[in-house]
Amino acid sequence: MQVDPNNLVEGRMDVVLDFAVEALRASKESEVYMVMAGCSEHVIRLRDFEGTTTGLARALSRGDIKVERGSLRDVVRALHGGVTLYYLHESGRWIGDVDVPPARVGFIVGDQDGLSVQDEDMLDAFGVPRLSLGRRPYLSWFIPVILSSILKPRW
Ligand SMILES: C[S@@+](CC[C@H](N)C(=O)[O-])C[C@H]1O[C@@H](n2cnc3c(N)ncnc32)[C@H](O)[C@@H]1O
Repeated sequence: MQVDPNNLVEGRMDVVLDFAVEALRASKESEVYMVMAGCSEHVIRLRDFEGTTTGLARALSRGDIKVERGSLRDVVRALHGGVTLYYLHESGRWIGDVDVPPARVGFIVGDQDGLSVQDEDMLDAFGVPRLSLGRRPYLSWFIPVILSSILKPRW
């Protein structure tokens, strides 16, 4: 399956790709799951990608990166238990008060519209706690940058 580059602007795929590039840049050990929801749901799992958003978009449109069927629920189900998961949200518990583990930790971040109510309910059902970086809402791709600036000095 290939990715339509037109989605970069109209479908705001840029938000998700910018996020992935920043998350992979923040830590060499990062693994990113991009969940694309629309008429059907797809998951792109990325590791060891070094490059720009344009480079990532090109790799996807050429079919160089695998795109699989799957949903946020599938990703959470697969990681739950083995990885400490947090849902990043302004309304969550202030990160300064939380002992975030230095390994086997995962952060769930919404796109420009945030997560759907159904996805939030699903995360609640899995017992995934909300973690806040403050009350100000940030762009998705700011999140890995802010998170690593808070967490790296602690670890
Ligand atoms: C642009 S925001 C989405 C805003 C959307 N209107 C909403 O109400 O969720 C993108 C994502 O970044 C994360 N985020 C933004 N600001 C945050 C903050 N202050 N603390 C924790 N997570 C935040 C959330 O996961 C959010 O879904």
